[in-house]
Amino acid sequence: MPQVLAGSSVTSRLAAAGFLSAGEEARLLRLASGGDAVRLEALIERRLTGEPLAWITGSIRFCGADIVVRRGVYVPRPQTELIAKAAARLLPHEGVAVDVCTGSGALAKILALRRPLARILATDIDPVAVACAVENGVDALCGDLYEPLPAGLRGAVDVVVAAAPDVPTAELMFLQRDTFTHETTTAYDGGADGAAVLRRVVAGAAPVLRRGGALVMELGGDEPSVIAEQLREAGFGVPRIIIDSDGDVRGIVARRR
Ligand SMILES: C[S@@+](CC[C@H](N)C(=O)[O-])C[C@H]1O[C@@H](n2cnc3c(N)ncnc32)[C@H](O)[C@@H]1O
Repeated sequence: MPQVLAGSSVTSRLAAAGFLSAGEEARLLRLASGGDAVRLEALIERRLTGEPLAWITGSIRFCGADIVVRRGVYVPRPQTELIAKAAARLLPHEGVAVDVCTGSGALAKILALRRPLARILATDIDPVAVACAVENGVDALCGDLYEPLPAGLRGAVDVVVAAAPDVPTAELMFLQRDTFTHETTTAYDGGADGAAVLRRVVAGAAPVLRRGGALVMELGGDEPSVIAEQLREAGFGVPRIIIDSDGDVRGIVARRR
């Protein structure tokens, strides 16, 4: 049986190919290989094509939990953890939450872990993502935003959370190589100005939320001002902006009046 490549050798191959966290990636690939040298080589080859690490290892850590991430499904990003935590804090212990655009189901899963008595539903338009979310134990439904939700949820939801596509269509080509080559544009395409899905998330949240319920959205840059008018029109109060430790805008919390 071939010898398993030394950790440093894997690290240097990844580093030479420009992977910034080569040491950590090498460790995760070796772990995923289960000590099988042939398998490790195949995993390295996949990574060298730019395939997302989480697809190769099959999971990622998010808010301290292991999230299964299947091939083709958006890989949850560390910055989205802030949104998950904000949504969990706002969710009553026996409340109801909806995660639209759930992808792997990462946000919904964190809500369920932190509020085990709550009812959490999730939706995604991509059946591959829905299957992955279900694998993560999430009650996920396939369809456009709020459309698959049971009618009985109207006006009864405490928290809507969304990390939705927000890249202007014309800018999709500038996404980093891994993204552009391997992932689906459905996960990123936010229409002409990047805010088409965000606006629909806002408009659809108002009818499902109870009065005082919270809409928690992942947003960046000037997106809070881009959707400010939409929030007002849909019946939300002035949103609180979620800022990270570097002072960057990461999202909003808006209450339904
Ligand atoms: C940026 S990814 C975020 C996934 C997940 N919320 C996360 O943070 O890991 C956006 C997700 O929205 C889904 N999506 C795009 N358009 C949608 C729509 N109209 N309705 C429901 N889901 C949609 C995509 O399939 C993708 O899984």
